Amino acid sequence: MNTLMNDDIDILISEVGPRDGLQNTKAFMPTGYKKQWISAAAAAGIREIEVCSFVPPKLIPQMVDAAEVVAHSLTIPGLHVAALAPNFKGAQRAMEAGVHKLTLTISVSREHSLANVRMTPDEAIASAKKICAFRDSLPPEQRPVIESGLSTVFGCTLEGAVSEDEVVRMAVASVEAGCDEVGLADTTGYANPEQIRRVFRKVRAAIGDKLSGAHLHNTRGLGLANVVAALEAGVTTFDSSLGGLGGCPFAPGASGNIVTEDLVFMLESMGLRTGIDLDKLLAIREILKQSMPEEPLYGYVPLAGITKGFVPATQQR
Ligand code: COA
Ligand code: ZN
Repeated sequence: MNTLMNDDIDILISEVGPRDGLQNTKAFMPTGYKKQWISAAAAAGIREIEVCSFVPPKLIPQMVDAAEVVAHSLTIPGLHVAALAPNFKGAQRAMEAGVHKLTLTISVSREHSLANVRMTPDEAIASAKKICAFRDSLPPEQRPVIESGLSTVFGCTLEGAVSEDEVVRMAVASVEAGCDEVGLADTTGYANPEQIRRVFRKVRAAIGDKLSGAHLHNTRGLGLANVVAALEAGVTTFDSSLGGLGGCPFAPGASGNIVTEDLVFMLESMGLRTGIDLDKLLAIREILKQSMPEEPLYGYVPLAGITKGFVPATQQR
């Protein structure tokens, strides 16, 4: 259950483009453009943005300015500022920077876990426990919400099928380690709608409302179908990325997130309020085009245009 949910929206969209998107782009987006993007996304009505990850800049040079990007984001009134960290050092840096929410990347697949964070899944849980204990030692106003971002939940490009029992075990272990929330990620774009419904229900049966959101990739074109399946399983928080940028550099063949523009169009058309202004959202693509002209941007609604007579969810009531 996300603490940002309130009466004026039905679905919380967490924009992860500045993190998941940029970790996988060839071009470096200059810091000034990152700040412009984040400000424009907040002005379009996005309430939570994963603005960066705290990783060694040697490994992912794009994230060299993480602390500066967080500092800027914290000046935007009402914005919930999230960041990702793979290990204790990254978590400490994120907390020093003052993030509101910290997502720990914890892989269910052993092979992906080793390739991505050089820890086994159980070692990653032990690290999460240490991170949560450190968080709890801080003064209350400096403690971020900690989410266990379980990755490769629906399949792994290195290992193939991932055991659903193992997913449930890792979700329970995350809560026992002290994480406030557990999100499920289809890092590799392997999931199908039936599997989404089943796995979300199994995890909810085990950890109740600690189950937070869905982080879906559109690698095989099933992203929005999977969103509908997750809605049916009671999910109300979705990560997505402007222009569908994204992918884990350490999961071979992984590609972009579901496209924020298409997701907002679908949800609003279905009568589900996101609080996001679609026209303003579409306009932000210009910042990406200007700052990284070589980078392909995805999305159907941006190409085809908003439908004639489109009525946002708030006006349907
Ligand atoms: N931020 C900055 N520096 C870090 C760091 C972090 N989060 N974690 C480690 N370092 C530094 C260490 O201090 C050390 O520096 P030194 O060489 O100057 O002493 C160096 O990096 C190596 O540290 P080590 O603990 O041995 O890390 P590693 O090389 O085994 O890498 C991870 C482990 C987890 C840091 C790395 O695999 C990683 O960042 N993975 C995440 C990848 C990612 O973001 N994937 C996408 C998300 S799905
Ligand atoms: Zn991702």
